[in-house]
Amino acid sequence: MAKKIPARARRALSVLTAGVLAAAGVVSLAGTAEAAGTLGDAAAAKGRYFGTAVAANHLGEAPYASTLDAQFDSVTPENEMKWDAVEGSRNSFTFTAADQIVSHAQSKGMKVRGHTLVWHSQLPGWVGGLGATDLRAAMNNHITQVMTHYKGKIHSWDVVNEAFQDGNSGARRSSPFQDKLGDGFIEEAFRTARTVDPTAKLCYNDYNTDGRNAKSDAVYAMAKDFKQRGVPIDCVGFQSHFNSNSPVPSDYRANLQRFADLGLDVQITELDIEGSGSAQAANYTSVVNACLAVTRCTGLTVWGVTDKYSWRSSGTPLLFDGDYNKKPAYDAVLAALGGTPDGGGDDGGGDNGGGNTGSCTATYTQTATWNGGYNGEVTVKAGSSGITTWSVPVTVPSSQQVSALWNGAPTWNAGNTVMTVKPTYNGTLAAGASTSFGFTVMTNGNTSAPAVGACTAS
Ligand code: G3I
Repeated sequence: MAKKIPARARRALSVLTAGVLAAAGVVSLAGTAEAAGTLGDAAAAKGRYFGTAVAANHLGEAPYASTLDAQFDSVTPENEMKWDAVEGSRNSFTFTAADQIVSHAQSKGMKVRGHTLVWHSQLPGWVGGLGATDLRAAMNNHITQVMTHYKGKIHSWDVVNEAFQDGNSGARRSSPFQDKLGDGFIEEAFRTARTVDPTAKLCYNDYNTDGRNAKSDAVYAMAKDFKQRGVPIDCVGFQSHFNSNSPVPSDYRANLQRFADLGLDVQITELDIEGSGSAQAANYTSVVNACLAVTRCTGLTVWGVTDKYSWRSSGTPLLFDGDYNKKPAYDAVLAALGGTPDGGGDDGGGDNGGGNTGSCTATYTQTATWNGGYNGEVTVKAGSSGITTWSVPVTVPSSQQVSALWNGAPTWNAGNTVMTVKPTYNGTLAAGASTSFGFTVMTNGNTSAPAVGACTAS
């Protein structure tokens, strides 16, 4: 059996590997992880998910993917599911970029939030040109086609986004839907959505509704009315984009709670907080604590992995800096979730790297090397519960080739370089028990280590 590599050594290996694989254009990244050392694991231990917005065009950047895979257990496509991205021309649907994110998430055992079906922004011009009858048909067709495509794959949908005005009026925002279909368009969208995917949570999502104000009061009144009349709404999303002009409100928790008291789930859907250092960390702590204090707050999503790709990049509002180093805000969030910083496993980003999901871990070691090749071994270890099967993705640099594999069955995803390994005889492991699989690689001039991703168990 392979000797477990100390966490510090694994982190160093992962950082080294990140650079080498990025240069080689390899998507996945090496690593391992253990429970409660990552945002996703720590949140899961509290019965929540911890997600991030993801942009498909960054998935090929190795440290981006490794940080995502290691730390988060839910993703929201940042732009790829929006109306202009999927239905630029009427009834002609393109899901390529969104599918890329959903496939990536599924292969890593992450959940997906759907964002967003009906929104005034990122709306192709043809929608605004329709008359009321056509617009109603187009809206319902859009909801139907998109939700059908992703049926069963989305845990929560932002069915309608940002339909209320800012300011003190509490009025609806002008949009083609509001202006031509009237107030009833939101109810109609939710009713259509429910018929298409009855298992997805249906959410109304907005910003500047995080504390109690005229806008959140108006959303509250709508949600209450929907619940009373049986309009199928399941949750309200609170975007939670904060900065000095729009700080975390003092009544944040109380505001979440009043929506929860209507019998709705609440979700923090687009969290980012401009700033740095301990002040930013403290604000993140207060947001996490608010969610944890509200039983029906089912999860949090930050609006991006790294500051450098944030829509507010100059405000450095996220948990990882532009080099994927963990910020004080990261440590604060992990601590607030009850996680353990550097809990013994690689956990992606900055001082680390790697992937995991919770109930098993995968630990890589090189067991032999010679001119032109090496043997690698992956130790699969069950967590605190027994498991009956496991799955570990392994990627070797594209110039290398896996020539043999033992004690595991591979599914090849790209040539002989990207494989998902599952057990042959060795799937059942008692709590804390281990097994291992091994492989031989021909280096073809590139001696970089392989990327060993998250272990998924069931
Ligand atoms: O993809 C094009 C590219 O081809 C073109 O060259 C480039 C030139 O500007 O634009 C690119 O599209 C941009 C797109 O992001 C992808 O990067 C758009 O211009 C830009 O407007 C768009 O911004 C997005 C914004 O929504 C649009 O409203 C942000 O990434 C995204 O983070 C942001 O997310 C919204 C949520 O959906 C709703 N809540 C608020 C939140 C922040 O604004």
